[in-house]
Amino acid sequence: MCGIVAYIGNKPAQPLLIEGLKRLEYRGYDSAGLAAINGNGLQIAKAVGRVANLEAELETLGGIHGSIGIAHTRWATHGGVTKENAHPHRDHDHGIALIHNGIIENYASLRKLLEEKGHQFDTETDTEVLGMLISHLYDPDNGVDLEKAVQAALREVRGAYAIAVICEKEPDVMVCARKGSPLLVGIGSGEYIVASDPSAIIAHASQAITLDDYSVARLTRDGFRTTTVDNVELSPKVMQLEMDLEEIELGSFEHYMLKEIYEQPEALRRCLRGRLDENEGKVVLGGLNAYAQELVKSRRVILTAQGTALHSAMIGEYLLEDLAKIPAECEYASEFRYRNPLIEDRSVVVAVSQSGETADTLAALHEAKDRGALSLGVINVVGSTIPRETDAGVYLRVGPEIGVASTKAFTGQVAVLTMISLFMARRRMMSPEASARLMAELKRVPDMIEQVLTTDKRIAEITAKYVHRDNWLFLGRGYNYPTAMEGALKLKEISYIHAEGMPAAEMKHGPIALIDEGMPVVFIANQGNQYDKVLSNIEEVRARGGHVIAVATEGDKQIETLAEDVLYVPAVEECLSPMVTVVPLQLLAYHAALLRGHDVDKPRNLAKSVTVE
Ligand code: G6P
Repeated sequence: MCGIVAYIGNKPAQPLLIEGLKRLEYRGYDSAGLAAINGNGLQIAKAVGRVANLEAELETLGGIHGSIGIAHTRWATHGGVTKENAHPHRDHDHGIALIHNGIIENYASLRKLLEEKGHQFDTETDTEVLGMLISHLYDPDNGVDLEKAVQAALREVRGAYAIAVICEKEPDVMVCARKGSPLLVGIGSGEYIVASDPSAIIAHASQAITLDDYSVARLTRDGFRTTTVDNVELSPKVMQLEMDLEEIELGSFEHYMLKEIYEQPEALRRCLRGRLDENEGKVVLGGLNAYAQELVKSRRVILTAQGTALHSAMIGEYLLEDLAKIPAECEYASEFRYRNPLIEDRSVVVAVSQSGETADTLAALHEAKDRGALSLGVINVVGSTIPRETDAGVYLRVGPEIGVASTKAFTGQVAVLTMISLFMARRRMMSPEASARLMAELKRVPDMIEQVLTTDKRIAEITAKYVHRDNWLFLGRGYNYPTAMEGALKLKEISYIHAEGMPAAEMKHGPIALIDEGMPVVFIANQGNQYDKVLSNIEEVRARGGHVIAVATEGDKQIETLAEDVLYVPAVEECLSPMVTVVPLQLLAYHAALLRGHDVDKPRNLAKSVTVE
């Protein structure tokens, strides 16, 4: 999604801003821009496409000088992908420039009002309307300086925003604000780096001011103050940025996605460390302790998420019913929030999200909380919005995920949902022995993933056999039905091959019509309760000429007589198996994208974190 970087200090802003934009590239965007103020006033450069195009444009212009500046990567919402629509947007009267993440919902009525007052617009964006409103209210001769104009404008807008604003008439001031979209102000020495994501800050600052919704920060080289939009002074909240630069750099890997696939064993060890007490058969989750009683007595759990997180939440639904014996259901957050859901007494809602910022998931959480549910978060990004708004929760601890196609966050989410299920199960009716046995197996999962990673070369060879095919099916049952969905999602996201994931039995009810000679059909066919049923489904595909690629348990010879190709994984307890069976599917998608010549880490149209509905 859109990314913000802004700088005020004593260094040249342009190189710092470009470096910051590059760190945000992973979020997904389609145009970029930069503005700075110097002795010649406000200067702006914009380009459609990659940050590299913006750099080329800056070179043509001879660079933009100045030590105060704002920069942006835009992911189009209102208005097409054009240079004009890219941020920063500027006004016509005062040399005010603005960058903005989020959506101004009442932009149309504000625009009409401003047009009636004689303002002319150059773009179709909601952001230009906000910039123009600030400009319209700006009246320094009557005490309305940039800070006050921003506050006044924000009192008029509905929607979500994170903004940074500069003005050539106040060349030593930057004003930032947020509501509903993330924004951090990194504190350097005599300088501030503002960004929508800590990865653009950590090379320069280890501490940051976090802004609450409806707060405004006024930054100068000498200091800052934070206020509400009504100009009530706030005491700032400063947080330590815990990310390491190494964690967000590629190292020896060619792509972030590959790096993160290979990081999974270590990431999961970190996720599980200190949380499994095998002696007592108890899971230790500090974030849930205060609510243990309520969780034990809960009557129903609703899991809600989008994208990959939805697939792990679906596995959570199986785990909670199977292990903790609590009625559970999983639903797209975008559907849940609008369907007038019934929330009975003693319900728990679990929001699952890597970023902790997904707009739909956040809105579903609000809806469930308003209706009386206890709220939990299963989140990766520490300090993001969802964990700040839930009653309790568990962080994944898998480290920053940069690849747009989510991998280690998925296995981390499943591991955490397994622990939450055991946390509740053991306090309800599961014996210490049964719980300890599952914990011991859970601890072995990172080793099993390591073993799967050694088969990478074979996975690449098998992928090469089928990569020219444009339609794929992914089928699984029980715990591995969501894994099939995730395998299909990975393939579409980065290779742009059409793929569908579904329960293996559902294939007979329509999708079987698609199967023709040589169509690749991936079955998750590891040993488990429904193994024989999966074999029958494989026969049905073979009878229609489909080519079967099976993910199966090591030592299974029978499967070799049915499948064209077999990707073996170690034997694993069925309820833990998705964390292992998904790994060959992640690698398959990765190799397919590479073989088709696509940019694995910057898939077209996708954003890492979707902060709009
Ligand atoms: C976007 C990403 C997906 C991700 C989904 C949910 O669509 O491209 O990879 O699964 O958002 O994101 P979240 O941060 O809530 O897990």
